[in-house]
Amino acid sequence: MSTPELPFSDLRVARKRMLTQDTVLFELQHPQGHTLPAFTAGAHLTVETPAGVRRNYSLCSDPANLRSCQIAVKRDAHGRGGSIAMADRLAEGSLITVSQPRNNFELEPRAQQVLFIAGGIGITPILSMMRHLKRLGVVPFRLIYCTRDEAHSAFLPELQHEFPGLTTLHHDGGKLASALDLWPEFETPGTAHVYCCGPKGLMDSVADMSGHWPSGSIHFESFGIDASTLPTNTAFTVTLQKSGEKVAVGTTQSILEALRASGHRVASSCESGTCGTCRTTLLAGEADHRDMVLLDDEKARHIMVCVSRARTSELVLDL
Ligand code: FES
Repeated sequence: MSTPELPFSDLRVARKRMLTQDTVLFELQHPQGHTLPAFTAGAHLTVETPAGVRRNYSLCSDPANLRSCQIAVKRDAHGRGGSIAMADRLAEGSLITVSQPRNNFELEPRAQQVLFIAGGIGITPILSMMRHLKRLGVVPFRLIYCTRDEAHSAFLPELQHEFPGLTTLHHDGGKLASALDLWPEFETPGTAHVYCCGPKGLMDSVADMSGHWPSGSIHFESFGIDASTLPTNTAFTVTLQKSGEKVAVGTTQSILEALRASGHRVASSCESGTCGTCRTTLLAGEADHRDMVLLDDEKARHIMVCVSRARTSELVLDL
């Protein structure tokens, strides 16, 4: 399999601003002031971070504004270094190499109404979608925004100013027991399209509660999520059935990254377990599934290599 490589180009950091104590907003412009490539609400950029690793960041600005675009980066002290390098080393005036925008979290054009559910930094693509819908002025929408506390809530002034009365804010203090009960939103299947972006626990809970909703009405995205909310990683080995090659997967890399580092190319897009592009046949071993794509009856034979890991010391893949 091969990954179509997106064109990359340099943008300049026109503005850098702290949104919260650990979340930074970057406004990016073309170095010569040209118009930026068009994007749709919910799209993301793949960024070559100053740490030398690529990370996906959702665009949070209005797609109608192509003089500049914005991404927000949560500095994840438990992460693998990409967000720390972005927050600490990327200064105003610097050039940063980014991909063309792409979108795995598109707004459904036939949606009659939209419910957004954001957890933490998951607000970023949703803010762009809300700005887009507000400008069109046709589809009613509202937002449920779950964060630890006010100090950890990015974009509160923007939400209050641009979307008065449309946001339900819930602080859980970082405690699972204080998480918002979303069942009242899902008990009766609705006609809304639901867009959820946030920690895996939040998305799992929305997925669990919405099984009786119309097919295709619940959408997920998970970029920029705090790695401290993820299960602990252990190292394991992936064996490629076709060549017999063994690839070691370390605790701080995904199977996809380990395969890439060994010169293997696997098709990917979201790299966050939500789009389904990197689906790979699993021949042996038990996977630790962390995606939002596979159905229960697919999990014994398939794995999303961008996010999922192993419960056994070895996985054998049909590669
Ligand atoms: Fe999207 Fe893996 S690349 S699910």
